Amino acid sequence: MLNSKTLLRLCPCPSRAAVKYLLIVILLVIIQYLDTAAGKHWQTTRHYKFNVRQSNVTRLCNTKPLITVNGQYPGPTIFAQEGDQVIIKLVNHVKDNVTIHWHGIRQLRSGWADGPGYITQCPLQTGMSYVYNFTITGQRGTLWWHAHISWLRASVHGAIIIYPKPHVPYPFPKPYKEVPIILGEWWNADTEKVIQQALQTGGGPNVSDAYTINGLPGPLYNCSNDTFVLNVNPRKTYLLRIINAALNDELFLAIANHSMTVVEVDAVYVKPFQTNTLVITPGQTTNVLFTTNATINVGGVNQFYIAARPFVTGGGTFDNSTVAGIVSYNISNSNTSSTIMMPKLPALNDTSFAANFSAKLRSLATSQFPALVPQTVDKKLFFTVGLGLNPCPKGMGNATCQAPNGTRFTASVNNISFVLPNTALLQSHYFKQMKGVYKTNFPDNPPFPFNYTGTPPNNTQAVNGTRVKVLPFNTTVQLILQDTSIFSTDSHPVHLHGFNFFVVGQGVGNYNESTDAPNFNLIDPVERNTVGVPKGGWAAIRFRADNPGVWFMHCHLEVHTSWGLKMAWVVKNGKGPLQTLPPPPSDLPPC
Ligand code: C2O
Repeated sequence: MLNSKTLLRLCPCPSRAAVKYLLIVILLVIIQYLDTAAGKHWQTTRHYKFNVRQSNVTRLCNTKPLITVNGQYPGPTIFAQEGDQVIIKLVNHVKDNVTIHWHGIRQLRSGWADGPGYITQCPLQTGMSYVYNFTITGQRGTLWWHAHISWLRASVHGAIIIYPKPHVPYPFPKPYKEVPIILGEWWNADTEKVIQQALQTGGGPNVSDAYTINGLPGPLYNCSNDTFVLNVNPRKTYLLRIINAALNDELFLAIANHSMTVVEVDAVYVKPFQTNTLVITPGQTTNVLFTTNATINVGGVNQFYIAARPFVTGGGTFDNSTVAGIVSYNISNSNTSSTIMMPKLPALNDTSFAANFSAKLRSLATSQFPALVPQTVDKKLFFTVGLGLNPCPKGMGNATCQAPNGTRFTASVNNISFVLPNTALLQSHYFKQMKGVYKTNFPDNPPFPFNYTGTPPNNTQAVNGTRVKVLPFNTTVQLILQDTSIFSTDSHPVHLHGFNFFVVGQGVGNYNESTDAPNFNLIDPVERNTVGVPKGGWAAIRFRADNPGVWFMHCHLEVHTSWGLKMAWVVKNGKGPLQTLPPPPSDLPPC
């Protein structure tokens, strides 16, 4: 028989200490659970469904089938709060292959959701779907999304609006109203045919027929009655979330009789400054405040144009037209005039205006919003970016060599004109199958130094290649982007995926390490994802490679990208799961 004594000996009953230990563990588990529950309360998951489909759209009396998201042009706005998870299901109902990029979203360890075709994923073919899943970490402001294959982004684009975390105010007066302003281009022609034809002939592509504000060209064009109108009340402050979604044009923008205060660029707050006009390159976003007047103008004018036209730096043809929307005061009495006041915009080639404007952009650099500029750099790189002409290949006829002097246009970074692979670089990298896909020998410098912005030597011909620059995790990088005059100088809005960078310096002519580097701003440089490298000049950027994956970098003028002004970075994993790229989602489109 078992008595209590033998029982005690047989069963491994817990000691007092063990019971205590167990209770503590249970308590910790409960606390952990409550914590996550509370965290869930802060982190909302936003779900979107993007159906890519063809819709007929009419502008300038011209109706054409347009590739759209959910039939909208521009596409739907994504709303989120800092810290949210965003899940977008993309379904492709058109004949073209499609991918979408969430421009400016850092994609920390979510590179599979970044979207550039053949870089982080293969495109969705007709009928396919893919779920983009990412979390917005440490960013608030305006960004945007766009198709990232060929020139589909002409009509496949929209705004991303990220509000601060709950109960966190803006570092500027709370606006009465917030308004997205998406600047774009309207093309009467099919943009896919335009770029196909240009790549075939080797010459420059056609240009757009109009600029648009939220898809509308406005009253300054022939046969155009689609105008963006912003109805305002007097003595109120409005926040405009401005996005340049144009394919190939940097733009000046102004509102007649009203100045603007710039408060944020590329979803990073800046030190506020006032301006009558702003400059914005494709890829960039700018948030401005403007305050309406207390009463209507002398003369009874209560309507003001908000207008944009190009800032032209290249040598080729361009769309020199002006888009206008109307800021209309909600006051009318018998004295109101029917005149609409037009703003004065800088000359189309006013490079000094553009240079002064970008020099005014500074990070807030406060304790709440610090500018974490790398003060020391592990890797110094110097990349030339520019256009060139390739001789007509043997056996190719005149019809395919339509660039100046019977050549073909090309564009390159350090003389390498990047060729997209047939498979996605990120997959090749992740599964260690880079052989035959890409090489890791992207050069740190151009093949030889020359007078980059002077008369070019004649041995600067670009070579084609798919080469990447490999960076160990957490490398701090300083990169000089130097424009060249090989064909003709031009400005290049260079966009880096996966990171924000700090623009520590900018200048005209050739970068000179000994005289320019000592003047770098390492205190409050602007932090952004797209920098306008000035025509015939340079920009110096710094960033920390703290995001493992494969990250595209390219000129955001679509024509320059098509010609090869692009390259990619491979950022290796660091230590542990927080520095490692997770495996791809199961629905990643096959190549
Ligand atoms: Cu806005 Cu690589 O793109």
